[in-house]
Amino acid sequence: MAEPRETILILDFGSQYTQLIARRVREQGVYSEIHPYNLPLEQVRALAPRGIILSGGPSSVYAEGAPTISPELYTLGVPILGICYGAQITAHQLGGSVEAADDHEYGRARVSVRVASDLFHGFSGDSELSVWMSHSDRVEALPPGFHLAAETPNAPAAAFSDPERQIHGLQFHPEVAHTERGAEIIGNFLFRICGCRGDWSMASFADEAVAEIRRRVGEGGRVVCGLSGGVDSSVVAALLHRAIGERLTCIFVDNGLLRAGERELVATVFRDHFGVDLRVVNAADRFLAALEGVTDPEVKRKRIGNEFIYVFEEEAAGIEGAKFLAQGTLYPDVIESVSAKGPSAVIKSHHNVGGLPERMKLELIEPLRELFKDEVRELGAELGLPAHLLGRHPFPGPGLAVRCLGDLTRERLEVLRAADAIVEQEIRAAGLYDSIWQAFGVLLPVRSVGVMGDARTYAEVFAIRAVSSRDGMTADWSPVPYDVLGQISSRVINEVRGIGRVVYDVTSKPPGTIEWE
Ligand code: XMP
Repeated sequence: MAEPRETILILDFGSQYTQLIARRVREQGVYSEIHPYNLPLEQVRALAPRGIILSGGPSSVYAEGAPTISPELYTLGVPILGICYGAQITAHQLGGSVEAADDHEYGRARVSVRVASDLFHGFSGDSELSVWMSHSDRVEALPPGFHLAAETPNAPAAAFSDPERQIHGLQFHPEVAHTERGAEIIGNFLFRICGCRGDWSMASFADEAVAEIRRRVGEGGRVVCGLSGGVDSSVVAALLHRAIGERLTCIFVDNGLLRAGERELVATVFRDHFGVDLRVVNAADRFLAALEGVTDPEVKRKRIGNEFIYVFEEEAAGIEGAKFLAQGTLYPDVIESVSAKGPSAVIKSHHNVGGLPERMKLELIEPLRELFKDEVRELGAELGLPAHLLGRHPFPGPGLAVRCLGDLTRERLEVLRAADAIVEQEIRAAGLYDSIWQAFGVLLPVRSVGVMGDARTYAEVFAIRAVSSRDGMTADWSPVPYDVLGQISSRVINEVRGIGRVVYDVTSKPPGTIEWE
């Protein structure tokens, strides 16, 4: 008989990195779930976690209403790892002292590992590590029973452990890529301290998701799935197809904001190849009407989100028994749109989250909500989707609308579509497509003067955007070679009427976002 699934419970205090913790844990083969920091004790018990991780968060332990965990959690006999704010609150609640530091420590720091703690198993006693810090408070005095495990000049208690109760605190972030040997520290917590086996995988995720979909939809329920041809919705469709087969209807909305050739591609792959019940809706007119005169990015996103849902509802009304709407919402969409499971800041309303109309008639199914893009690709491969589809660059739900700044007219969208297709063709031709996270074009409502032939031109500016990223949460602009940029530029100017100048965007995320709106 299979062993029961081992779970690590992550209690979220609102850090932007909380989900990264979850994935670092899953990457090591241990299932993890994120819940709000104030999850009731009986629910914690019901999850029977092998270990609990307390995330970082924006608060100060002395701020009014600062979030804390139920003190009983420290007595359950379940190992605890507090990270950043999670470490401070642990020290504070267990009788240590936390004080405001003179200078806010943010960015790289060097820690010295001082005393053997299980967290640093396999590290020599005098290891020096480069780590990622982000805090303004620091732990001054350790609670009774704890010893110092690592320190920095600014945060004397960079790591501390109580080996008796197996409660640990890390002032720095082991989950971010900038922290040296962070995965080993998390691994020590999972395997040495919590005694996990590490036998969880994407295949188990697929099985669990299929079982959960069947449970929610019931014997006869039908599901409508919005299919965009992008990676996320394709994986959702494949998952639903596996779970409920013919009781799935996919709806592809041609909203007039799609990339070149998208509609044909979707029909070929899903209808002809997979045999999915696919309906194509011509909705360009109504989307463009809803967007007329709209230039504010948030208003655009909300209107598009609303239109999508209205179209789905109308289509679903003609499908007997359709009660559910499946969407490919990912974790970054959730975390940046709303304070999903804890108190973190709103960056953008992603169309399939923040844009939902108040009065939704369909129940939502969002099986990818806990995943990052690369995990979704892994899941897609697990479900047998072809590599060429899974390797496609992400395309935002609001489509070209958030890449066409200024008035959203048919003509300007056509200009952008044609120029964007050139970017993709040239990036592919240069063999760069698979090593770049996303490459696309943006049309700016700015005109500049030029000369073509002997005539003066006065046309809009086109920006090329190409970034590398692991999960879309952070990104670096890609150093696309000059000759490739040059080739794109000359083709765009020569082949697309309406563009007079081409520029390259050299902004990383942060401080920029990947999309311009
Ligand atoms: P940003 O612009 O927030 O984008 O740095 C991060 C990633 O998310 C994609 N993106 C979206 N995806 N609906 C989506 O499904 C949206 O509304 C949306 N907005 C941005 C973006 O393309 C990038 O990969």
